[in-house]
Amino acid sequence: MLKKLEEIKSKAVDELNRIADLKELEAWRVRHLGKKSELTQILRGLSSLSVEERKAIGSFANDAKSVIELLYKQNMETLKEQFYQDIEATAKGGKKGAAAKLDVTLPGRPLPLGRLHPTTQMLRQICDIFVALGFQVIEGPEVEWDYYNFEALNIPADHPARDMWDTFWIDYENERGERNMLLRTHTSPMQIRVMQQTRPPVRVVVPGKVYRYEATDATHESMFYQIEGLAVDEHITFSDLKGTLYEFAKRLFGEERRVRFRCDYFPFVEPGVEMAIDCFVCGGKGCRLCSDTGWIEILGAGMVHPNVLRNVNYDPEKYTGFAFGLGLERIPMLKYGIDDIRLFYSNDLRFLKQF
Ligand code: PHE
Repeated sequence: MLKKLEEIKSKAVDELNRIADLKELEAWRVRHLGKKSELTQILRGLSSLSVEERKAIGSFANDAKSVIELLYKQNMETLKEQFYQDIEATAKGGKKGAAAKLDVTLPGRPLPLGRLHPTTQMLRQICDIFVALGFQVIEGPEVEWDYYNFEALNIPADHPARDMWDTFWIDYENERGERNMLLRTHTSPMQIRVMQQTRPPVRVVVPGKVYRYEATDATHESMFYQIEGLAVDEHITFSDLKGTLYEFAKRLFGEERRVRFRCDYFPFVEPGVEMAIDCFVCGGKGCRLCSDTGWIEILGAGMVHPNVLRNVNYDPEKYTGFAFGLGLERIPMLKYGIDDIRLFYSNDLRFLKQF
């Protein structure tokens, strides 16, 4: 009888080595621990044995049973783990079974990496160009006073030019009952702040968010980015404005670019201009991108108005300067053929991942 039990145990262990999945393990359990198994039969028959035999065989049989039960549990765990690894490997189109077991020599799985927003990329690229030309990069507040956004820029309260900027006014009144706080409509108020804080020579570019109270559509957003530029010194002339902006256009859009300056009006510059580059798609022949004109307008600029210099106590007889302001999103829109400005800030990864 003892020999028989020894055989049962070694047979079970032997068979276990050939078991490859959970289904086979279950069949093995039924075979060796189930009601009809030899072991169970022996344990049942113990009562018909003599006390002596019962003691010897009983303890031996119970030992065999615990060993088989333990083996069952251990194998169950291993096979379960194997099962989940297989599922994962299959999902990834990899190998099944033993080959899918953990290989500690493999490199780690790469984590998904983020990237810079297209606006940030463009902003850095443009600032880099101006830094190389000797400009300093500074930033300023997005919530502004009427004084900086309009008044000091030669746009008094009753001036019709205020219509050029649809404004978000902040729900705030000062002690004189004036609503004089707003979300800046352009980066130009930083011209005033910079000049108040320093004496010439001044050479700065100011990137930042600006706000306009208008209905959004494919070409209008209520929040967008601008980059302001300001250079003030003795003997600065319109040639400096042209030379600087021409150099900028070539560095950003290519050496072969041509530029065009035309009259434009902004109350804080005199004379005021708008600058266009020749269309980089058709080379100036006329196409959809440039609306058949051959030119693409990219920024407003001009010589700093003497009144603006007076407002910051700069002597307009001694100092002159130029300023410019460009809308940032327009540039990647032109460059990559993006037809809706709202795509920039609607957080759609399908769009953002392309940059
Ligand atoms: N601030 C002007 C705008 O938002 C652009 C500009 C800046 C024009 C500086 C001239 C000089 O329209």
